[in-house]
Amino acid sequence: MLWALHNRAAEAGRHDGVLTDPACLHIHRRIDYDFAAQFGPPAGSLAVRAAAIDGALRRWLERHPDGIVVSLGEGLETQLRRVDNGRMRWLSVDLPEAISLRERFLPPTDRFRHCAISAADPSWMDEVDPSAGVFIVAQGLLMYLDPALVGALLSGIAERFPGAEIVFDAIPRWFSELTMSGVQQTPQYRLPPMPWGINTDEIAGVLRGWHPRLAQVAFLDYGAPRGFWRLAGEVIDRIPLARHAVPSLVQVSVGEMPGSDGAAAPDVVGTAEVRGRFAAEWFERAAAPFLTMGYVAMAAQAAAFAPIRAFLVGKKG
Ligand SMILES: C[S@@+](CC[C@H](N)C(=O)[O-])C[C@H]1O[C@@H](n2cnc3c(N)ncnc32)[C@H](O)[C@@H]1O
Repeated sequence: MLWALHNRAAEAGRHDGVLTDPACLHIHRRIDYDFAAQFGPPAGSLAVRAAAIDGALRRWLERHPDGIVVSLGEGLETQLRRVDNGRMRWLSVDLPEAISLRERFLPPTDRFRHCAISAADPSWMDEVDPSAGVFIVAQGLLMYLDPALVGALLSGIAERFPGAEIVFDAIPRWFSELTMSGVQQTPQYRLPPMPWGINTDEIAGVLRGWHPRLAQVAFLDYGAPRGFWRLAGEVIDRIPLARHAVPSLVQVSVGEMPGSDGAAAPDVVGTAEVRGRFAAEWFERAAAPFLTMGYVAMAAQAAAFAPIRAFLVGKKG
């Protein structure tokens, strides 16, 4: 929870950051904790993840302005402040100790309610009025749950909320296995075990196997915000064996009918397309000076050889 907060705050504090989030910066400043010593330098990818979910939420809120967003395992995420349209409702579901920390900074209101319970306990669903639409966010949560529990949770949502949207992020299998055998992010911080790992090419099939309404799957942008790691992500996306073994951000449209192919198609752009566009722009920018230098060199060469050519042509004539 603190690592994710730190990651978002690092981006929100940059002039070119991918998030604008004064509430996040405020909470980050008020928590007396040596984030950098504990977690190391923030990569910004969790802020990219949050920004991509913001985008999906805003698009959905345009169609469902009075809808309810349920954020499972929300921790200290301030997403509701970033996307609030003044009408939407929000239910934050987290374990009791996390909710009490959240309430120190983000007290509940009539529109923004809290539910101190495990996401695995389906009684939170009784708190959701689905009449104006339901959007469920599980950001940085499912990888910490047992795989059987993830299946039960997602199929429970599909059963109870036909037509809903779900966004969650997932880690690849190899990374899950690494955390299960214990890995230090820094000398001070050992990554918690993450038992649920899934590669991107397995997701659609596994979800459909869990519940036939979990049939429409799209991928949102998830990677580093800029620089070398962003570029490394573009490259990995083009390597056949590696491209499915990366973290993913998934949007699922729950079908209206049993076995149906999902609700209205979400207005999302796949990660590969976003990265492809970025790579093309980057290539154009990087290549432009070299092309210019090439043209200048050719012109200089032609100018230098012109007298020799004129001499030779003249001699021939
Ligand atoms: C890595 S943090 C992510 C917090 C937040 N979603 C974010 O992105 O900043 C994981 C969160 O999941 C919560 N959590 C863990 N197990 C949970 C469960 N069974 N039910 C609900 N929340 C849970 C933790 O309390 C914590 O707030």
